[in-house]
Amino acid sequence: MSYSPEKRIFGGHHWFFPSSRRPYHLTEGLSQGAKVSFYHSNFSPKRRFFISEIRCNSTTAEQHTGNQGFESIYVQGIGVKPLVIEKIEEQNPGVSGKSDSCVQESDDLRDSEEIRSFNSSESSEETGASGDHVRFEEIRAPEVSGGVEENRVSIEREESAIEKEAWRLLNAAVVNYCGSPIGSVAANNPADNSPLNYDQVFIRDFVPSALAYLLKGDREIVRNFLLHTLQLQSWEKTVDCYSPGQGLMPASFKVRTVPLDGSHEAFEEILDPDFGESAIGRVAPVDSGLWWIILLRAYGKLTGDYALQERVDVQTGIKLILNLCLADGFDMFPTLLVTDGSCMIDRRMGIHGHPLEIQALFYSALRCAREMITINDGTKNLMRAVNNRLSALSFHIREYYWVDMKKINEIYRYKTEEYSHDAVNKFNIYPEQIPSWLVEWIPDKGGYLIGNLQPAHMDFRFFSLGNLWAIVSSLTTPEQAESILNLIESKWDDLVGKMPLKICFPALEYEEWRIITGSDPKNTPWSYHNAGSWPTLLWQFTAACIKMGRPDMAKRALAVAEKRLSKDLWPEYYDTRSARFIGKQARLYQTWTIAGFLTAKMLLDNPELACMLTCEEDLELLEGCSCPLSASPRTKCSRNAARSQVLV
Ligand code: GLC
Repeated sequence: MSYSPEKRIFGGHHWFFPSSRRPYHLTEGLSQGAKVSFYHSNFSPKRRFFISEIRCNSTTAEQHTGNQGFESIYVQGIGVKPLVIEKIEEQNPGVSGKSDSCVQESDDLRDSEEIRSFNSSESSEETGASGDHVRFEEIRAPEVSGGVEENRVSIEREESAIEKEAWRLLNAAVVNYCGSPIGSVAANNPADNSPLNYDQVFIRDFVPSALAYLLKGDREIVRNFLLHTLQLQSWEKTVDCYSPGQGLMPASFKVRTVPLDGSHEAFEEILDPDFGESAIGRVAPVDSGLWWIILLRAYGKLTGDYALQERVDVQTGIKLILNLCLADGFDMFPTLLVTDGSCMIDRRMGIHGHPLEIQALFYSALRCAREMITINDGTKNLMRAVNNRLSALSFHIREYYWVDMKKINEIYRYKTEEYSHDAVNKFNIYPEQIPSWLVEWIPDKGGYLIGNLQPAHMDFRFFSLGNLWAIVSSLTTPEQAESILNLIESKWDDLVGKMPLKICFPALEYEEWRIITGSDPKNTPWSYHNAGSWPTLLWQFTAACIKMGRPDMAKRALAVAEKRLSKDLWPEYYDTRSARFIGKQARLYQTWTIAGFLTAKMLLDNPELACMLTCEEDLELLEGCSCPLSASPRTKCSRNAARSQVLV
């Protein structure tokens, strides 16, 4: 693909945007008198610069998108009911559901540009990554601390040697752009001569780094990341099949230094995104935009800086992602239809269709976006579409993806070839599909969400990220969430073993491996994506355990990891059924292994801060549930039926 950047010059800095990206001019959206300037932050350990907030009163963004598209994504009539719009309007037009910040907020300061300067405070310096103590103080800016006192988290304990090492390594993985920290490379092993694309900043990989920094009290890198990736978001809808669709967020980006026009001596930095054009298999990363929304909400909750999510460009970014996800297609299900490899598992692993990981992240992102979208005439329909989708999605997953002993026994006795609307076996699953391993494996107590559901196909593999994120986001019922943790507990040796956590269980072997992975030598049985063990999943496991009031399980898993991670040089993944070996092709000093460990540690120290990631059960959403797959495609569930989902 040729790269033909458009150039915008502002204040002596050259801003490059690939031609298919949004041409964003920094002067757009500046309120009168506002200026863009570079501040020197004395926040250690490095000199850092950041761009002052651009207060956006208007941008050309709305002209690009308007509200078209959102009418068409709101499916009227087929058993869906607009839900909370009226209620939100009553509450507070313009700001919705933001009162439950992890830190208390002072309203009059919410919009203050001064908020951003808190990173330069002295206390941040002390709590910097190189500090000896874990000090979770001053999560908020000192100058916005009205009422913060009671919310201030102040836990002091000696940082262990391994934590200190982890912070040092994480800081070393930070990437700067125009003098400001903007993300972290995927792996940072100086001895590795062929880093492939691990020298890039991956959106999904950066999330645990971002959380670690936020929990430590450093918001700057996260804010920069959110704003710069927003500018990389694809803005032009194209029909060229090698160009990204409007709203897509890149999988990763790289900061490149290139010669200034016509000069051999002067250089400048550009951000070069990869939308999957150079990834293995050329797959578009469906999860990137979802992670971006989830991180944006976490940033607001933890810092109280809601001004960021209220900016017009940020609001437009959210809308574009949602528009892409909610667009009509041929699919009949509320789940997202994607190709193989469009998420953390980014190679062929037989997860095309409606993989659980994407559905759980999709649900979570919709819940987060719903809290952040500014309500006005232009967003009402979008909000309706979001609510409708949330209702249908949770019903669909809770009902059709759930398996436990009882459900498997039902499937075992399924009749097939049922054509009517009231078919019990709606997807025509042949009982012979129940794999032999599952018959022995499923515990009496506990259950889980299957990996995928397609016509005549249930993928019974257990996928950790999807199950954990379904707990975190309340995609499951509370009872199902409890059952998933019960299953992990009773299958500890299979799912945690010598290194938490298996990416999926069990491995594809023999013919299945040959056919489903295409004989992928990296995804051999019990390696990498094919049932390898990924320590980065620890932070998601910890968030799920904390949410369900079972932090001890997370502590147990963390203790297993802590024994090996540093000694093994922080590998990307482990191999074998019980995770005994460092992965055959695993990178060392993998950043999300390091950051995942730190985030898990800090969440356990401050369990109440896990609320930046979690969503609670929302009964109103369940009442709006539509059941296009039940008795009649146009019959709405009765309230009681919907409510019964809560009681499963
Ligand atoms: C591998 C993983 C992917 C990750 C990337 C960078 O491709 O499958 O999830 O984002 O490495 O670490």
